[in-house]
Amino acid sequence: MSSQPLLSLENLSTHYVSQQGARVVRAVDDVTLSLHAGGTLGIVGESGSGKSTLALSILRLLPPAARIVGGRMIFEGENLLDKSDTEMRRVRGKRIAMILQDPMASLNPLFSIGNQVGEPIRVHEGASRASAWERAVALLKSVRIASPETRVSQFPHEMSGGMRQRIVGAIGISCEPRLLIADEPTTSLDLTIQAQYLNLLRDLQREHGLALIFITHNLGIVAKMCDQLAVMYAGQVVEQGPVSRIFSAPAHPYTRALLGSIPRMTDNRQHLTAIEGQPPDLSSLPPGCAFAPRCPMAIARCRVEAPPEVAIDEGRTARCWLAVPGVEATAATMRSNVA
Ligand SMILES: Nc1ncnc2c1ncn2[C@@H]1O[C@H](COP(=O)(O)OP(=O)(O)O)[C@@H](O)[C@H]1O
Ligand code: SF4
Ligand SMILES: [Mg+2]
Repeated sequence: MSSQPLLSLENLSTHYVSQQGARVVRAVDDVTLSLHAGGTLGIVGESGSGKSTLALSILRLLPPAARIVGGRMIFEGENLLDKSDTEMRRVRGKRIAMILQDPMASLNPLFSIGNQVGEPIRVHEGASRASAWERAVALLKSVRIASPETRVSQFPHEMSGGMRQRIVGAIGISCEPRLLIADEPTTSLDLTIQAQYLNLLRDLQREHGLALIFITHNLGIVAKMCDQLAVMYAGQVVEQGPVSRIFSAPAHPYTRALLGSIPRMTDNRQHLTAIEGQPPDLSSLPPGCAFAPRCPMAIARCRVEAPPEVAIDEGRTARCWLAVPGVEATAATMRSNVA
């Protein structure tokens, strides 16, 4: 593993601002993360915690109401925030690609599969129509689509859901990106097809040395696919580190709640454990720690002062007062005094 990460996000913040500027949603708030070439980073968190906004920020494909208000995004040594729109278009699809949750949203019903799989190759590599078509056939084959020579001339509605998702995967890898971001890519697939698709992504990752960012609700997928994990809550990464270490000893109360009882790496459950209470409104966060209203471990300080992100171990961080050296001991004494 080279020491230079492929991607580092440094204190990245992305907000949605309403037209009058009256309402600001802190969808991504001070996120610091890194990923090495060929590595797989899982991102988990409840709906609305900012996962998709984080992914779209990396590609700079945000909706008009969104603003990246701070931080840096260093990809292969360059800050993506310094790039012009034209330069970013060259990055997207070519060096960083994304697979969305709904394959139909990524496919145009009016164009043939060959046309759509070949398009990035024509745009980014200036390939001729004929050679892009040939590459499209080879890509369909590489994503295990049977009879690719026939399928390449067909249209999205002639494919099953699993095939469409694999075609979106083929478009994603068509220009051999270094990083593929998959935002809940298997949510619409049934379990067997899901397992096949995940195996395919793993094979492609190995064959092409791709790094993957995998956004999912499924802990079984995290255990199977990912070596690093980032847990998001209210726009922030509240815990991150190697999957095996987080699974065996989660440090943050939210991670512990998500994982329910401590899961094994072979855990195959489909959904994160539901947690009592509602996720906070990101436009009016409580003072202090955003998880405090739902946290069984909260101490008085949690409700007034936001916890810092602290290193808890080699390659691991947590954003919780109890992870700050000395605080847990004081809290434990206070709890025993109350009891
Ligand atoms: N286009 C938008 N305009 C305003 N707010 C948005 C928009 N998209 C998402 N949000 C808000 O940003 C927050 C994070 O959303 P999102 O990134 O989609 O979370 P996740 O992918 O984890 O479900 C949510 O509070 C959501 O309501
Ligand atoms: S800082 Fe306090 S409220 Fe927040 S997760 Fe840690 S213990 Fe719970
Ligand atoms: Mg999302």
